[in-house]
Amino acid sequence: MKSLGILLSGRGSNFVAIADSIDAGRIPGARIAVVISNKADAPGIATARQRGLTALVIPSKGKPHAEHDREVVAALKQHNVGLICLAGYMRLLSPWFVQQFPHRILNIHPSLLPAFPGLEAQEQAFAYGVKVSGCTVHFVDEELDHGAIIVQKPVPVLDSDDEHTLAARILEQEHIAYTEAINVVLGGNFAVAGRRLQKKK
Ligand code: GAR
Repeated sequence: MKSLGILLSGRGSNFVAIADSIDAGRIPGARIAVVISNKADAPGIATARQRGLTALVIPSKGKPHAEHDREVVAALKQHNVGLICLAGYMRLLSPWFVQQFPHRILNIHPSLLPAFPGLEAQEQAFAYGVKVSGCTVHFVDEELDHGAIIVQKPVPVLDSDDEHTLAARILEQEHIAYTEAINVVLGGNFAVAGRRLQKKK
C-alpha cells in the first residue's frame, strides 16, 4: 500500500510536492515505486529521472484506449504499486482500469467539486464569477472527477485576480492537500459510506 505509483502528463508539480513530502518524512513509510507518463515530453518525467526515480513513458497517442490502459496497469502491477496518485494525468481511466485498484486511485482537481469538473477548472471558476474556489483530492471512480472526496481546500477569489493568479494560489493548496489525502488513505482510519468519507474515532 505504501508503494506509490504516480501518473502524470505534464509539468508534475503535484508529483514533486508528493516526492518532497516523502523525502521530508511527512508521509511516513511511503515510497514512489514508479512514475508513468503518457507523454514523452512531460517535464514531470524528466524531473522524476533527475530525482533517481523509476520513470516510464507509455505513449497513448495513436493507441486504442483499452490497450494503453492495459499497458499502464501491467506496469503498475509489475512495480507492486499499492496506491496510485493521478497528478495532472490528462486521461480518463476506463472502468476496467478503476476496477483493478478499488479505492486505491486518487486524483487531484483544481476546483471544489462538484463545481467545475473537466478541463481548465480554474478558468471555468474565474469566468463563472465564484467568490471561492479551491481544490479537491478524491477517490477515482468510473465517472469523471466524481469519486468520494478525501480532502478539499478553499481558496478565495480576489477582485485583483486573473485566471493565472487564481490558478497559482489554488496550486499552492493542491500541494498541501495531496499529502494530507495520501496520509488519510494510508492511515486507513476511515470509512466510506456512499459518497461520504469519514474518519473513524
Ligand atoms: C493541476 O492543477 C491538477 O489539479 C490538474 O492539472 C494540474 C497539473 O499540474 N488536474 C486536472 O485538472 C485533472 N482534472 P502539475 O502537473 O503541476 O501537477
